[in-house]
Amino acid sequence: MTMATSPPPPCRKQQSMLLLMAFVVAAALSTAPSWAQSPPLQYNFYGTSCPQAEATVRNVTQGIISNDRTMGAAFMRLFFHDCFVRGCDASILIDPTSSNPQVEKKAIALRGYAEVNTIKAAVEAVCPGIVSCADILAFAARDAAVVSGSFSPFDMPSGRRDGTVSNFFDVLQNIPSPINKLPDLISNFAAKGLDVDDLVTLSGAHSFGKARCSECNGRLYPTVDPTMNTTYAAALKTVCPAPGTGGGDPVLNNNRVAADPNVLSNQYYGNLVTGQVLFVSDQQLTNSTYTAAKVANYSADAALWMQQFATALVKMGNIQVLTGTAGQVRKYCNVVNS
Ligand code: HEM
Ligand SMILES: *[C@@H]1O[C@H](CO)[C@@H](O)[C@H](O)[C@H]1NC(C)=O
Ligand SMILES: *[C@@H]1O[C@H](CO)[C@@H](O)[C@H](O)[C@H]1NC(C)=O
Ligand SMILES: *[C@@H]1O[C@H](CO)[C@@H](O)[C@H](O)[C@H]1NC(C)=O
Ligand SMILES: *[C@@H]1O[C@H](CO)[C@@H](O)[C@H](O)[C@H]1NC(C)=O
Repeated sequence: MTMATSPPPPCRKQQSMLLLMAFVVAAALSTAPSWAQSPPLQYNFYGTSCPQAEATVRNVTQGIISNDRTMGAAFMRLFFHDCFVRGCDASILIDPTSSNPQVEKKAIALRGYAEVNTIKAAVEAVCPGIVSCADILAFAARDAAVVSGSFSPFDMPSGRRDGTVSNFFDVLQNIPSPINKLPDLISNFAAKGLDVDDLVTLSGAHSFGKARCSECNGRLYPTVDPTMNTTYAAALKTVCPAPGTGGGDPVLNNNRVAADPNVLSNQYYGNLVTGQVLFVSDQQLTNSTYTAAKVANYSADAALWMQQFATALVKMGNIQVLTGTAGQVRKYCNVVNS
């Protein structure tokens, strides 16, 4: 594949900021591991090879989210899980086969796989064999922030290639748990080159989308976690039955405070301040002076959080990427090319 060498498109305000971030990230990565030796991601990578790529992803993603408003969160979480396991290489999308039955997607249930295939099919229709599934996940997550979070469109670097390996056992080692404490969350993110600021900033994705009672029941039964708001806990207990009482595992909105649970917003930080979040891993963000100050700042300043979330999402999208001639561009996102 040829590398686009054109400069980034004409500027919006955030663009120079993000560009600066990209250099910082690239510089940080170039000092360390071997996977950073291949060429870095670039803005508008498909500018020459497939000029309609990003607009096509945006159009289809927008259509999917307007049809089912819960899907923005699904795309956002897919990107997170993809990047944290073997890097942003679309390994999360690979279906099991008889020779590799134990793939990543079997470890934790995520939503949006069929929808990613729909986006890919639309992109293949305009530029067959050019646009990677890893880039589609990145673009769709960015577009989800725009559609579900009213972010101003921001640039997402691209040029990722698709991996050929997907392993169930990589997931549990790399994806943090909702019962993790702050030091473990910080070291989990650090292992991916993300810092404590990124942890606080990206956790704002829990302002939208879904969860399950089983992930917060430990904070409700047998006794209510003292860091949880008592009013909130009482309401949650009416929805989440005590484990072992045959009530199943109901689905919850991550954000039970917002009028609209499908909006990506800084309201998550207000919920943290008032103890109205689901997971231990969420509430732990108020467990140190530094992170609590950051939570308070984001709660008070939506624009600050949005700008930093966009920057952190771009940074997350650089984790262990395959570029240049590494990997492949899959034809179907759920299967490795034969
Ligand atoms: C900090 C550590 C994190 C932990 C422990 C964590 C854990 C979880 C858990 C347990 C759920 C509920 C899953 C379910 O029941 O289906 C969830 C949902 C979600 N997470 Fe996270 N997460 C973390 C960070 C992130 C990050 C960094 C992002 C994205 C930037 C993210 C995006 C989401 C989204 C959007 C959902 C809702 C998914 C849906 O509606 O299907 N999470 N997370
Ligand atoms: C945009 O998406 C809609 C479906 O939501 C599709 O019907 C239409 O053809 C798409 N247009 C372009 C230019 O991709
Ligand atoms: C608990 O939540 C309620 C809203 O349900 C709020 O009014 C109250 O201030 C919260 N309590 C604390 C200690 O933050
Ligand atoms: C942090 O959480 C632990 C329990 O997990 C608690 O004992 C400690 O007091 C908390 N510290 C702060 C500063 O909130
Ligand atoms: C919170 O905002 C204040 C005022 O702008 C700033 O001085 C402080 O450094 C911020 N704290 C964090 C942790 O970002």
